[in-house]
Amino acid sequence: MSSRPRVLSGIQPTGAGKHLGNYLGAVRYWASMQDENECFYFIADLHSLTITPDPAELRAQTRKLIAELLAMGVDPDRSALFLQSHLPEHAELGWVMSCLTGFGEASRMTQFKEKGGGNGGNVGLFNYPILQAADILLYQANRVPVGEDQRQHLELTRDLAQRFNHRYGATFTVPDPYVQKTAERIKDLQDPTAKMSTSKGGSGTLWVIEDDRATLKKVKSAVTDAGREVTYDVDTKPGISNLLTILSVVTGTAVPDLEVQFEGKGYGDFKAAVAEAVLGQFAPIRSRFAELVADPGYLDEVVKHGAARAREVASVTMAQVRDRVGLLPSS
Ligand code: TYM
Repeated sequence: MSSRPRVLSGIQPTGAGKHLGNYLGAVRYWASMQDENECFYFIADLHSLTITPDPAELRAQTRKLIAELLAMGVDPDRSALFLQSHLPEHAELGWVMSCLTGFGEASRMTQFKEKGGGNGGNVGLFNYPILQAADILLYQANRVPVGEDQRQHLELTRDLAQRFNHRYGATFTVPDPYVQKTAERIKDLQDPTAKMSTSKGGSGTLWVIEDDRATLKKVKSAVTDAGREVTYDVDTKPGISNLLTILSVVTGTAVPDLEVQFEGKGYGDFKAAVAEAVLGQFAPIRSRFAELVADPGYLDEVVKHGAARAREVASVTMAQVRDRVGLLPSS
């Protein structure tokens, strides 16, 4: 067994694909963590069932996402890449954890509230963060690279790990969130007060996989303001601030340096620079994706291999949990 820190993260397969926020907020860190950590990355297909997707679409999107993740830099030789549903341990530990979660505690989760939970929402949405906690704890993960919007779910995970350990004896590693400063919320280009999201879609969302011309057009028509200065101020200039964040993260240049660079230049020049940077970042990903998606047999092989590796860890944790909580062995 490796002595490197263990990293785990997940991503949902629903929607037209993955967007710039998923990439800048999470997946590019997944890729960069592979040398120094033992990494487990998975597609949260069980979580996606909370929006009851069309079965054929879910299958197609899951395959597409395997190719997208590989194209974005997840390396199956260095990381276990797998599908959550291939390991029943996720749902099983989710049940155990739901029995340790307070009803009020689960009701307070903002994502549950935002998604209309309690108000015609399904019980899966309510249980969503508890299954997420199980995903993380099964692998005894030390670090969980996610975007800012997942922070509250990680707090719940830590609470549940501590609660379990306190009640049944030391069992789980209490994970640290790994929310990079740069992994800020990337906002929707048409509605820069809301986060860029799969569900919103539309012309404010930059898909990692789409035609270059579509990306260009969306950046050029991003909502700005009546002013002329390229300066960062989330309250009065949310659109320009969002584009500055994107350019800063993509180019690795600090926002104040970008403000100096674009002093006296108009929004048109600035947007052209943002579009160029984003297209440059996406170019190798897009060409690699085209190769990968043409080989579904390879994609299936990758996740099969990843699941076998994941099972080695998840089955050990789950056996320990069953024993700790007092379930009798089956043989
Ligand atoms: P998901 O599929 O919604 O998003 C995947 C990752 O992308 C990040 N992200 C963003 N980052 C910056 N700006 C944005 N606009 C933006 N939108 C999304 C998310 O923070 C996330 O890191 N619940 C998780 C999936 C999950 C999971 C887990 C994650 C299930 N189990 C266990 C970590 C560990 C989700 O819905 O991600």
